Amino acid sequence: MKIARTLTELQAATKTMGDTAFVPTMGALHSGHLSLLAAAKAGGRPVVASIFVNPAQFGPNEDYNRYPRDEAGDLAQLEASGCDLVWLPDVPTMYPAHTATTIHVSGPATRWEGAARPTHFAGVATVVAKLFGQIRPAAAYFGEKDWQQVQVISRMVEDLLLPVKIVPVPIARDADGLALSSRNRFLLPPERAAAPALYAALTKAAKHIAAGKEVAATLHNARHDLAVAGMVPDYVALVHAHSLEPLAALAQPARLIAAAKLGHVRLLDNVPVA
Ligand code: PAF
Repeated sequence: MKIARTLTELQAATKTMGDTAFVPTMGALHSGHLSLLAAAKAGGRPVVASIFVNPAQFGPNEDYNRYPRDEAGDLAQLEASGCDLVWLPDVPTMYPAHTATTIHVSGPATRWEGAARPTHFAGVATVVAKLFGQIRPAAAYFGEKDWQQVQVISRMVEDLLLPVKIVPVPIARDADGLALSSRNRFLLPPERAAAPALYAALTKAAKHIAAGKEVAATLHNARHDLAVAGMVPDYVALVHAHSLEPLAALAQPARLIAAAKLGHVRLLDNVPVA
């Protein structure tokens, strides 16, 4: 596995690789990331992963400094997963002092995470566009755990005519249903025990909505389930799967999405509604 820490090293390493499959990450890798790498590998192209904790996607009171970092552990996992090249840029490489361009996002970025974290998706879109420009992959793999992020990036790629195929990868879960996330390690033991209630509430609500129960009452009950489990729900919503606009009644394509605070950790999850 090659490691590039400068643009010169990256350009030298990618020159002879041909079409590549790209897995962007912020490190602190877990089995969810490994499922992205496995999907990328299965596509048959050489795999490039990046590790960059992107300051632009953290709000002023968020956990940029506390975000878990484990470069040695990440590199060992990437090597074992058959990754061909790792891109490890530093902040000045991604955001030189003269930077004057960012990507403005609206549409699917507007509500939910976009409302709770107003600068988040502009930061994500900007760094992903830069990474695409540096690596020029044929395909890029994103986890459906961040469902809204996948929609924002897919829209950006379509709107800016970027020559990359976005491949969404299903959510990897612990045996009890909790969606894997780098921030799960911050859950205290009683919080970790309560955390699967988010997936349980979503699967129950999805079943009820699919069976024809009233959407507003079902979402209300799901929020109640989360509160009973000790969470502070931010939103539980039935949305159009791609525009992220709320749906008052079931219409396909639909997705049930939720965010809730458990202790200091903001949990996200989503499920399809058949
Ligand atoms: O999903 C993530 O880990 C990040 O948002 C991403 C796509 C690597 C951009 O920093």
